Amino acid sequence: MLDIHCHISYGSDDGAQTPEEALGMIKIAARCGTKGIAVTPHSNVPGSYRNYFSEGVSDKLTILRRMIAENDLDIQLFSGQEIFMTEEAPSLLESGKLVTLNKTQYPLVEFDFYENQESVISKLERLIAAGYVPVVAHPERYAFVIEDEDAPKRLRDMGCILQVNKGSIEGRFGRMPFRAVFNILEHELADIVASDAHSPYMRTPDMRGAHEAICSEFSFDYADLLFSINPARVIQGKEIIRF
Ligand SMILES: [Fe+2]
Repeated sequence: MLDIHCHISYGSDDGAQTPEEALGMIKIAARCGTKGIAVTPHSNVPGSYRNYFSEGVSDKLTILRRMIAENDLDIQLFSGQEIFMTEEAPSLLESGKLVTLNKTQYPLVEFDFYENQESVISKLERLIAAGYVPVVAHPERYAFVIEDEDAPKRLRDMGCILQVNKGSIEGRFGRMPFRAVFNILEHELADIVASDAHSPYMRTPDMRGAHEAICSEFSFDYADLLFSINPARVIQGKEIIRF
């Protein structure tokens, strides 16, 4: 498995606060069968976490990689951000203040949970016009997706990739995201499952429960695509495979 959405950039956002907590999360991921993690701190959030790419950000990656080597863990780290979408995001990507997943054509993007569908679509269109392929983080958690069951297909038909959260599949964000994620999965509109992990104690990087749920509710092949094949293709900058 590969995890393309994980908050282990310690001290950057509401994820891991210390290197020790980040290492704790990495150990859980390694123990649970994850072979690689994209480090995706919340970035470009107005009035909140900015986390524009800098030497300090890449230093943290270097330190985390050193800790992995020292602890003899079999796991790779990739650069990334969870980009809060604003009108300025495309130009910030061009200038290098915002970065895609592992320097590919794939930015991981999020929105305000209550942003309306027209506004979301117009921002995604601008990003696509600038040459990017947006990976939409946890669509099942947005009000416009919960209220309109055709919205996921609309996003996908535009060319977006849909990344659903393991926690939604496990019912940890309540009944509405749970229903929305099953609608997305049932219609074979999900492309990737990621942990969106924030700590070693709760919202952890352990994705085994969600993997088992998809194997039993759907199929092993679908789980393999969502947890392994497509995340690896994104990290390699290859086109993803639609189920
Ligand atoms: Fe996140």
